[in-house]
Amino acid sequence: MKNPYMNYFHIEPNKGLLNDPNGLVQFQGKYYFFYQWNRFATNHDYKEWGLFTSSDMIHWESIGSALLPDSFDDKDGVYSGSAIENDGKIFLFYTGNTKINGNRKSYQKTAISTDGKTFVKQKESIETPVVFSEHHRDPKVWKVGDVWWMIVGAQTVENEGAISLFISSDLKTWVYQGIVYTDPILDQMCECPDYFKLVDGTEILTVCPQKRSHYQESDIDISSYAGYIIGKMNYESKRFEPTESLKLLDEGFDFYAPQSFLDNKGRRIVTGWMSRMSEKQEAYLPTQSFGYVHCLTLPRVVTFEHGKLKQNPIEEIHQLRSDKQMVKHSFNLPTAQFEIEFSTSNEFQLFLRDKNVIISYNLTNKMFVVCRKDWMTEKYDNRSKKINKLRNIRIIADTSAMEIFLNDGEFVFSLRYFTTNTALGAIFVGENTLTLYNLGGSTHDK
Ligand code: FRU
Repeated sequence: MKNPYMNYFHIEPNKGLLNDPNGLVQFQGKYYFFYQWNRFATNHDYKEWGLFTSSDMIHWESIGSALLPDSFDDKDGVYSGSAIENDGKIFLFYTGNTKINGNRKSYQKTAISTDGKTFVKQKESIETPVVFSEHHRDPKVWKVGDVWWMIVGAQTVENEGAISLFISSDLKTWVYQGIVYTDPILDQMCECPDYFKLVDGTEILTVCPQKRSHYQESDIDISSYAGYIIGKMNYESKRFEPTESLKLLDEGFDFYAPQSFLDNKGRRIVTGWMSRMSEKQEAYLPTQSFGYVHCLTLPRVVTFEHGKLKQNPIEEIHQLRSDKQMVKHSFNLPTAQFEIEFSTSNEFQLFLRDKNVIISYNLTNKMFVVCRKDWMTEKYDNRSKKINKLRNIRIIADTSAMEIFLNDGEFVFSLRYFTTNTALGAIFVGENTLTLYNLGGSTHDK
């Protein structure tokens, strides 16, 4: 049977389970997106780094395995991490996860590649400082003057979410500097931290807080989510000082473990896992019958404009556009890969893919609501946000992944949805005319 859910421009594995994006980097002009991969099964029992490469972040080539859990200090998983390009080489920073007699021990490790093909693990490793439990993982590295800073997601022995800091002058020896950020907002563990400065000087810390006690192997519920905090890195005290409270990076159903990188066009690009969901939802994902689960979000450009963080799809997505049409009321989507744009401050309801996804805005309570039919329960579930002044909407839909950008990227809703590929009916209840594009085409190397 042909797979009716296969995405065209969202990265997804051809087999097994994908989770976090890892080691996002541009090397010799090519984009490298590594990812957490179980290539053997659609569960979380095994983790290695898989790799996709691309010259435009739209057409991806699946390279396969890049880092395997084949050493004593990563034998139970090559966990998440980041990458940099330095001196003509790619440096990968990852967490080696081990469990001996059920006891977890984590190591922060490095692998180096000179050709972008072979990644050689280095012998040095960072052991967890005593103030933390072994939930210490997901290193992110950047350069500050002549030295390198590494932040790592952590849990203190008092069971508090935290982020640790290490500094190195040679990318080999890392010296622990203390806790760069902790706050009750980080719950009991912080996964996948990232820090970056935008061209206008805005500094952003992204975090994935979760509720979890240190003797627990899995978190209590699906409490974890991805947020961002605007603030200042104090380079003297080596502490991140928030100037604003934590906000969600994505208002939708499916977005977790985001990571950013800077490309050679000077863009800060972020992509996330689509997504962390309940074990049951994962088990019932319709792609299970095709031997794989999950995808990454589109790469999004992050900017800060008029006091607001914005995320917008990379402009390369425009190359997929064809068959531009102006539509209203009732219409057919050209394919299961499409884009819809319109400006409005009015009420509307938009029914997509034969009512599998319903998007609406209510002027009385100012609520913007995204409803999707859950693939497990077949019932509608929703996510909403109060938007005092709606201005515009852009929907980028792949076969089974949709991202909705509001007000030039000020709010984003990401979601997976699953329906037959003949479910192409759409209805718009409202006064506007919508611009519709076909984004379909064979772009994905499977
Ligand atoms: C986040 C995460 C990371 C970890 C990885 C393991 O989804 O739990 O903290 O490194 O996944 O696959």
